[in-house]
Amino acid sequence: MDQYKLFIDGEFVDAADGKTFDTIDPGTGLPFATVAQAGNADAEAAIAAAKRAFDSGVWSGLPMAERVAKLQDFADQISQQGVRMVMTECMDAGQIVSYATMIATWASLLTRNLATYALTEFPMEEEIAASGNPFSPGREFIVREPIGVCVGIVPWNFPTALAMWKIVPALIMGNTIVVKPASNTPLTALILAEAAKAAGIPKGVLNVIPGPGGALGRTICTHPDVDKIAFTGSTEVGREIMRLASDTVKKVTLELGGKSANIILDDADMDLAVEGACFGTFLHQGQICESGTRVLVPAKFYDEFVERMKKRAEALRIGYQLDPSSHMGPVVSKEQLATVEHYVQLGKEEGAELITGGKRAEVKGMEGGYYYTPTIFANVDNKMRIAQEEIFGPVVCVIKYNDDDEAVAIANDSIYGLAGGVFSSSIARAEAVARRIRTGTMWINNYHVFAEYCPFGGYKQSGVGRELGKWGLEEYTQIKRIHVPAISDANTNFPFKMLKDDKRMEGFSYSSPTAVVVGHGSLSAINKAVVDLGCRRAMILTDPGVRAAGLADLVKSALVDFCVGIYDKIPQDPDLESVDGAVAKARELQANCIVSVGGGSVIDAGKVVCVCLKNGGKANDYVNRWSALTEPQTPHIVVPTTAGTGSEVTTVAVITSKTAGRKLFIADPRIVPNGAILDPRFTMTLPKGMTVGSAMDAMTHAVEALTSIMANQMCDGQALHAIRLIRENLPLVAADGSNEKARLNMQIAATTAGWAFTIAQVGMAHAMAHTVGTLHHVPHGTACGIALPHVMRFNVDHATAKLAQVAQALGVDTQGMSERDAALAAADAVQALMEKVGHPMRLRDVGVPEEGLGLCAFHAMADSSILFNPRPAGDPGEILELFKQAY
Ligand SMILES: NC(=O)c1ccc[n+]([C@@H]2O[C@H](COP(=O)([O-])OP(=O)(O)OC[C@H]3O[C@@H](n4cnc5c(N)ncnc54)[C@H](O)[C@@H]3O)[C@@H](O)[C@H]2O)c1
Repeated sequence: MDQYKLFIDGEFVDAADGKTFDTIDPGTGLPFATVAQAGNADAEAAIAAAKRAFDSGVWSGLPMAERVAKLQDFADQISQQGVRMVMTECMDAGQIVSYATMIATWASLLTRNLATYALTEFPMEEEIAASGNPFSPGREFIVREPIGVCVGIVPWNFPTALAMWKIVPALIMGNTIVVKPASNTPLTALILAEAAKAAGIPKGVLNVIPGPGGALGRTICTHPDVDKIAFTGSTEVGREIMRLASDTVKKVTLELGGKSANIILDDADMDLAVEGACFGTFLHQGQICESGTRVLVPAKFYDEFVERMKKRAEALRIGYQLDPSSHMGPVVSKEQLATVEHYVQLGKEEGAELITGGKRAEVKGMEGGYYYTPTIFANVDNKMRIAQEEIFGPVVCVIKYNDDDEAVAIANDSIYGLAGGVFSSSIARAEAVARRIRTGTMWINNYHVFAEYCPFGGYKQSGVGRELGKWGLEEYTQIKRIHVPAISDANTNFPFKMLKDDKRMEGFSYSSPTAVVVGHGSLSAINKAVVDLGCRRAMILTDPGVRAAGLADLVKSALVDFCVGIYDKIPQDPDLESVDGAVAKARELQANCIVSVGGGSVIDAGKVVCVCLKNGGKANDYVNRWSALTEPQTPHIVVPTTAGTGSEVTTVAVITSKTAGRKLFIADPRIVPNGAILDPRFTMTLPKGMTVGSAMDAMTHAVEALTSIMANQMCDGQALHAIRLIRENLPLVAADGSNEKARLNMQIAATTAGWAFTIAQVGMAHAMAHTVGTLHHVPHGTACGIALPHVMRFNVDHATAKLAQVAQALGVDTQGMSERDAALAAADAVQALMEKVGHPMRLRDVGVPEEGLGLCAFHAMADSSILFNPRPAGDPGEILELFKQAY
């Protein structure tokens, strides 16, 4: 008899205790090879060798291309062993020779296919284009690394294939592996080890230790140096492996049992379906985990179908597995034969009708072999044990059903979910049924089809994880995320600041991509702006007030034939639905560019319209998301008609959600408009109240950008200049709305303040304004203005120098004043300016009820603007006090 040894650390060795066992040919019942039997000492040695090899980097440290080259050599060595592999597999596992030949060929194919795929396509590293975390910008990427020492526990039904399913992905990804084949079928794994050695795969990378599952399994599944276990076998043993692996928290992939349903729909091609039902369950004597052992047949032709299955089953030739004329060989062992007999007896006792089979088969000259006839039970109730438990033999249950819903319910009524089939003349109908089955693989008009690039694995108690394809490769890697901050500095780290008193950020990143054209008549620039963006179909977005003022039509005439339509239904403080209405119109018009003509409401709606046009879906899909977009959006040109929000240059869009009951944001550098036209003719019609209110929005942006913890010198310059411009020009436009020069200066101030705050952020006044805007519909700019002086006083000891600069920009003579007094004087100067231009001074003046202040304070605390306020603001009592002061 042939002698086989263990393969440990690159050498074929005897077991440490010298034990051996015989392996039996199930077709004859006779031993045909002697194998060294691994014990615990051998398992320890194999794991130690695998760990040494892994840690040394001799394999894990190789570039992928070098590992792949070695695996291709391995594939060649397997091909060279082809005939021996086939014969041995047949004699060890009882596979019929045609099947074993296919599988041996696959062993080599699998290796080459997956190795080449890993080298050329599998993403070992991936950049994460948008991190989704706006507080810690920088580069984010992942690298995939091997897990370490893997264990592959292989069952007896497909000793070569299932060993390769574990060895190949483990090795491709740089792991090392210890393979424990089933004690019934240990030989081909050892031949694979010979091939690996001949291919020059370094010692210790692959180790093979045949031996008894129970004792050896405990050692390898609990060993602290084992990082991952990949097991194929019964659900019962899978549960135990998971338990054993849990103490050391190993990664596990489990490919376990099944009781798969093969559903024959009532429009199926009968010849095909009968063939599929028999192939699906009698191939390899039914010893395939994903076999379609429950055949679900419609009542309509149940009896005829059973009769035809019977005929087909009885025509199958049972014989010695190496005889090329055999359709079915023996079951794998005496024990398995006993299990099959036990279940057949049980089926009879449960009341199922035995149609054919149900007994051992006799093969002339092979009397000691473990042959069993293909067996069909009809009139099986799905609750019977023969329909619920895995038999692993040539026994099929044929179950009757009345309609598709019932078939789906029966198919899903199982603890397993490994695979299944649907036979139908309508692929659409079959697909619809396939989607409803809770199982890892569904074959339509086919069965038992595996492929290297397609995943295999189970739902429910059929397993954890997937084998094969990119999903199988992923299971043999760890994912490491690597973060590199945009600025590596202790004082420019937003989260670090949570543990510091000084919250100010020193470094910053400044980006202002909007092309701005400024001046009387600058509307003329719009055609060129559209063309430069590669567009010719612009839809104008506006609101009824702006339309009524004739401003949208002014833009339409300037656009000439580039304008495909006007959508004028954007309300003030737009909600999600109004954005969706605009998106639908733009899609209908096939617009490839949006021109927003209006104030912040229209511009913000326009930003979200552009996001939806580019990415599909509705506004609600994008709100409350920060830093999520990775590409430029649909081109957006803006013609502001108020001088306040600065939205034409900001990264923010504010949209009201009725369901959330508040304003939600999209904050993303990708939504900044591409172009803005500041033509004073567009603000001349703005009524005085709006003029003053929106100016205080700009003023608040400037002051809060200057004092925020994100303040920086570039934005400081913009903010201070905006404050000066507003101080000088707001009284002029308030007195005379037709003062074009002053109007233009106010526009410049608003845009400049927008640039400042989109980088430097805002603070408490905005948190308060967002709240009273949502709860009491106070216009944003007006609410900002009312809150601002109170917030400046609230912040006086946390932004003293900056507020003193505000005083100077507001024209206060600060000479002789302490810095703190100058800072307080800035708040007074803001109030004086507001009084001068007739701005409301108190929340009570704009309809906020006194009893509502508590709720306002509560909401303001949850507003993200508060994060950037110079004075840490976590005390609800303090915030309520501010609201009371502003009241
Ligand atoms: N994205 C940002 O960076 C940002 C910043 C601040 C505020 N906002 C948001 O902007 C919105 C407020 O924008 P707004 O203050 O510009 O006001 P708005 O866009 O809501 O317009 C207010 C009213 O003024 C009318 N109007 C506008 N321009 C006119 C003109 N030239 N002539 C006649 N009528 C005119 C409009 O028809 C509308 O009825 C709020 O929803 C706020 O949350 C956004």
